Amino acid sequence: MSDLLAVEAIGVSKTFGSVRAVNDITVRVAAGEVYGVLGPNGAGKTTFLRMLFGLIQPDSGTIRVLGKTWAADGVGVLDGVGGFIESPKFYPYLTGRQNLEGLALLDGGHRPGLLEELLDLVEMSDRADEKVGGYSYGMRQRLGVAASLLREPRLLVLDEPANGLDPAGIRDMRALVKRLANSGLTVLLSSHDMDEVEEICDNVTIMSRGTVAFHGSIAKLRTMAPDPGHLLATTDDNRVLVLAGHHPGLRVVRDPDAALVVTGAKPDVSAYVAALVRADIDLLAFNQTQTPLEALFFMLTDDTTHQTLARPAELTKAFR
Ligand SMILES: Nc1ncnc2c1ncn2[C@@H]1O[C@H](COP(=O)(O)OP(=O)(O)O)[C@@H](O)[C@H]1O
Ligand SMILES: [Mg+2]
Repeated sequence: MSDLLAVEAIGVSKTFGSVRAVNDITVRVAAGEVYGVLGPNGAGKTTFLRMLFGLIQPDSGTIRVLGKTWAADGVGVLDGVGGFIESPKFYPYLTGRQNLEGLALLDGGHRPGLLEELLDLVEMSDRADEKVGGYSYGMRQRLGVAASLLREPRLLVLDEPANGLDPAGIRDMRALVKRLANSGLTVLLSSHDMDEVEEICDNVTIMSRGTVAFHGSIAKLRTMAPDPGHLLATTDDNRVLVLAGHHPGLRVVRDPDAALVVTGAKPDVSAYVAALVRADIDLLAFNQTQTPLEALFFMLTDDTTHQTLARPAELTKAFR
């Protein structure tokens, strides 16, 4: 890993009318890492990535991409950068290969053999001579990654590359990003999926309504994750609530769908469940509501529709 930051965005803001889409965010992406910008829809991820590509100008703040700025280097900022914002666009009546050839031509050509290598990398060699109009959404996304790699970038920027894909498409896209990361490429990707970022990223910035709710390593994020909630369906919910009084380490509440949700440390939850069984209460269902990291994500981004847990005091302090 070199000392040069692939991306250094400092104090960047962008407002559209009355919407502060990006509000004073600072993001540093080291060369060689896979960096995630995570947030729910509308958090400002695309706006931030559009500013990196110079598609829109920030109202304030500075952005350096591979050491260059728009002010000093103009379009030269994009030397060494590939990627796409939202969905990649292709001519549907041309084949995948023809689309790539056309794009390479517009970009000053490509080295011999590269097209085949890229088609192979994104697992599209077999389908490259079919028209893009007949491709699945996942195939188009993978062709988009191949197109982004035609200029042999050092930094690849992907805006929600797995968004809208079916489970197999998601798996393939994540595997592809991991292969690219292993080749030493710096990857900056946005996502609204905590699992995805946990699986493929080294470091993450979590955005919520334009601001940074967290930034740091996935390892650090894991240490902050709260105890997950468990949905409980029983034959006697009223007694279940009464028995909760004997387990002060636990929180047992009725959620809006009338199910019971138990939250607490694993040993406390186990002891409670054992006590319910001893009391002859039948458990009809016992399911984790969210993974600990998902729960943390919803807390950090204040997505109350998914929040079944209380925000622990230390987290409230950390993010105030
Ligand atoms: N061109 C634009 N004009 C007006 N509002 C916009 C524009 N682009 C984005 N926004 C608003 O900025 C906010 C952030 O949007 P966006 O960056 O697309 O979020 P994300 O990619 O995280 O879903 C949203 O409220 C969105 O409606
Ligand atoms: Mg977006």
